Amino acid sequence: MSTLLQLTQADVAIGGRPVLHGVQLQLARGDRLALIGANGSGKSTLLRTLHGLLPPVRGTFTRDAAARQAMVFQRPFLLRTSVQRNLVLGLWLAGLPWHEAVQRAPAALARVGLQELAGRNARHLSAGQQQRVALARAWCLQPEVLFLDEPTANLDPPSKREVEALMAEFAEGGTTLVFASHNLGQVKRLATRVAYLERGRVLADLPVAEFFDRDRLAEVSPEADLFLRLEH
Ligand SMILES: Nc1ncnc2c1ncn2[C@@H]1O[C@H](COP(=O)(O)OP(=O)(O)OP(=O)(O)O)[C@@H](O)[C@H]1O
Ligand SMILES: [Mg+2]
Repeated sequence: MSTLLQLTQADVAIGGRPVLHGVQLQLARGDRLALIGANGSGKSTLLRTLHGLLPPVRGTFTRDAAARQAMVFQRPFLLRTSVQRNLVLGLWLAGLPWHEAVQRAPAALARVGLQELAGRNARHLSAGQQQRVALARAWCLQPEVLFLDEPTANLDPPSKREVEALMAEFAEGGTTLVFASHNLGQVKRLATRVAYLERGRVLADLPVAEFFDRDRLAEVSPEADLFLRLEH
């Protein structure tokens, strides 16, 4: 297994305020890592750090620069233009030649069930539909590492299943996944490994089966134990 990313004793701050503390995390090819923890525990910040958007203020961050990365954000950023054009622009900004972006867009929209809405203003889409535009973009880019921040938080149950199927498809195609989720069922279905965050610290980083072993988690922290009990 080769290392794709590594954070060593990393502190991350936003606007001068410390948010992540002493994070030690390594990502290997083929990992499916779920980040879980309470609101504000630092999952989104950790994803942005791993994607290279927030350099640590202390410690080190190394990554395989040749590995293509993509990220699906918690709140997708879309321009006030058609769904199709948003997708094409997003792909072009990510480095695809324009004609290739135009070529790939329809199949990607069909893959996420948005082909009927290709001409609609993307800002008029529902939150779940906007999330799918972001997923279509990631699908086109075929990244080696895909970061997803609560990818199904706004979706209805059938759409959740579709997005999970798409994530599994990415993984089966060899994409390494890192996703934040509050849905523990989803974590069990998709993750091979779980990192638990509490107040900006990674308190546990375990294979999925061990993570859901209650006795094991009770050792991590009383809050972690409570977190799992409340979610079940
Ligand atoms: N842009 C920002 N400016 C200042 N502080 C921020 C900013 N973004 C996040 N923070 C702070 O960093 C901490 C971690 O936030 P983060 O969004 O990473 O948590 P999270 O685990 O993703 O939460 P949630 O489950 O609500 O998405 C919080 O205390 C939050 O207030
Ligand atoms: Mg978040």
